Amino acid sequence: MATQVLTQSARVAGARNALSKEACMAMYDEWATSYNTDLADASQNYVAPILTAQTALHINRKLAPTVLDAGCGTGLVGQALAKGGSTGSGVVIDGADLSPPMLKIAGETGVYRDLLVADLTQPLGRAEASYDIVTCCGTFTRGHVGPDPALREFLRVLKPAGIVVATVLYEIWLSGGYKAEVEKLEAEGLATVVSAEVDDYRKGAGDKAVFLVLRKKATTAAAV
Ligand SMILES: C[S@@+](CC[C@H](N)C(=O)[O-])C[C@H]1O[C@@H](n2cnc3c(N)ncnc32)[C@H](O)[C@@H]1O
Repeated sequence: MATQVLTQSARVAGARNALSKEACMAMYDEWATSYNTDLADASQNYVAPILTAQTALHINRKLAPTVLDAGCGTGLVGQALAKGGSTGSGVVIDGADLSPPMLKIAGETGVYRDLLVADLTQPLGRAEASYDIVTCCGTFTRGHVGPDPALREFLRVLKPAGIVVATVLYEIWLSGGYKAEVEKLEAEGLATVVSAEVDDYRKGAGDKAVFLVLRKKATTAAAV
């Protein structure tokens, strides 16, 4: 039992402490088949995907919204969105991630319309104004994806007044430049902050995340 707990926490620590993108991907490629069971364990109690989906469906104003689940991993957010009851009715979800083995598990859930291999540290291969919602859970964390250009890209692919719902590991909200990038995007007139609440992330392990909700401006400064 003690070995199992250590293994689950060691997996998370290994991914966060990866020294390169390639090392991070190697961790996820190897972890994909046991990721869901590892993070469902009481020692982890990874509640962030459900909180992310609930937040997105609660704030969304559109019927049958189209969603890009960025850093979708094995599809935990997509599954929670699809189970979202009446508010999740008709939701159409695309997923993007850099790990093909993680995307393979996401594909097996049957809830994604399309799944693409994408590096969130680069421009997204999606047309602007394509989605009502971008979710990004668990990917703004140590050793993974920084705020720039990812947040700006999320806003670009959103339709006017669409929303980003993203978790940012609390310990890097300031030091990783996420808060500063959000302020920059606001100052540029691209988005407004709907909320940035600190809540449970891996409840069993005791870590927290900022649950960031950004709304793209209905008419952006760039479009005027
Ligand atoms: C902690 S998992 C979160 C997955 C899923 N959203 C969830 O909440 O279960 C982090 C994910 O980020 C992906 N990832 C890490 N770096 C990435 C990058 N540069 N571009 C795209 N995805 C990346 C990993 O492959 C992994 O699936």
